Amino acid sequence: MKISVIGTGYVGLVTGTCLAETGNEVLCIDINEEKVKQMQEGIVPIYEPHLDVLFERNIKAGRLTFSTSLEEGVNHGDIIFLALPTPEDEDGSADLSYVLGAAKDIGQLIKDYKVIVDKSTVPVGTANKVTEVISKETNVDFDVVSNPEFLREGFAVDDFLKPERIVIGSSSDKATNLMEKLYKPFVRSGNPIIVMDEKSAELTKYAANSFLAAKITFMNEIANFCEKVGADVDMVRRGMGTDSRIGKRFLFPGIGYGGSCFPKDVKALHKSGKDNNYNFQILDSVIQINNKQKTILLPRIESYFEGDLKGKTFAIWGLAFKPETDDIREAPSIYIMEQLLEKGAKLQVFDPEAMPNIKKRFGDTLQYVDNMYAATKQVDALIICTEWSIFRTPDFDKLKANMNTPVIFDGRNLYDLEDVKNQGFYYSSIGRKTIG
Ligand code: UDX
Repeated sequence: MKISVIGTGYVGLVTGTCLAETGNEVLCIDINEEKVKQMQEGIVPIYEPHLDVLFERNIKAGRLTFSTSLEEGVNHGDIIFLALPTPEDEDGSADLSYVLGAAKDIGQLIKDYKVIVDKSTVPVGTANKVTEVISKETNVDFDVVSNPEFLREGFAVDDFLKPERIVIGSSSDKATNLMEKLYKPFVRSGNPIIVMDEKSAELTKYAANSFLAAKITFMNEIANFCEKVGADVDMVRRGMGTDSRIGKRFLFPGIGYGGSCFPKDVKALHKSGKDNNYNFQILDSVIQINNKQKTILLPRIESYFEGDLKGKTFAIWGLAFKPETDDIREAPSIYIMEQLLEKGAKLQVFDPEAMPNIKKRFGDTLQYVDNMYAATKQVDALIICTEWSIFRTPDFDKLKANMNTPVIFDGRNLYDLEDVKNQGFYYSSIGRKTIG
């Protein structure tokens, strides 16, 4: 099939590349000329495991091409994916200007039947709006379909190639058939393609992400309560997670969820509720609790150092909002580092992938080092913000030799309490006993 993808951000690029992998002819469109030039030369503009291999293979095979011309894109694809940004507006709602702008342009360029697919996360009713906008510009037959993505950063290629489900919101049999044909190779295992109306599909995405954010937030509250009563959240998590109705995943407490999806989507659903006279109380709490959770380490650090952080030096391990990505959007590390800098502390930071992005944001206010141990040289404490695998089994003797004082504040519960105790560290984590 011939596919066009408008927008080569994270979602567009993964979608385009993976659709080329099953033999489709994919043309990706972006207005950024420099980026398009880079991609034509085979350079992947984002960090995402395995994407580079697929990218190179499909470009070489001539199935994956790039252009800045929307007209070319509209002519090329039988199916046109809109993978455009839907940033958070000041009031928390999703800004649809990119999506509706592209819809208008498509309306002016369309010459024969096309399926236009909303891949971006968009509020309920957007497929109708896109249809209206295109209809104003043309009499040519077309259908608009909602097909939300459920890609996790760091696992996006795998999630796309082996999805647990595909959701298609469509009220046209012709469009549904084309979409099913496109996705069939990805669900050979028997995972379902669930066809529903457009609004339900749009809401499915928000409901799934908000539920997961609420699940994490619930565990963060349980963790905070564990600390008050002397329980161990690791045990509680295991005790709960074995109930198949609850499930083992997404029960890990920490210093709050971040990233480009959860924070934005929870706020957007909350705002969407308001717009429709519905007060999502639970989402209100999720937003507030998560904001608080991101700053939970500071009072502990301050209390350990008796309120005086001026001139203290800290190592920060992990800057990305989660492992296996260079994405720092809404990363808890940002909030912690801003607070520590404000209190006059010096920070030596390390992350396996996110250093360039952090440098762009923090400039020379931080000290950047090129490995995890260098970050700990002569520091008063180590603060862990992201659970990269490389941080899981450090050489504790080396750490002790490097650090002024053996103190760890762990926002991701990486270590066994007995281990750190035996190593002689002061160790504060989330929802567990403080050691030392
Ligand atoms: C998420 C959804 O998982 C994906 O389906 C959707 O399409 C996009 O949003 P992503 O933002 O890439 O994906 O990250 P994810 O792995 O889901 O983690 C989100 C946040 O939750 C991270 O900040 C992570 O640290 C946090 N998290 C996750 C926890 O704090 N505890 C957990 O148990 C799981």
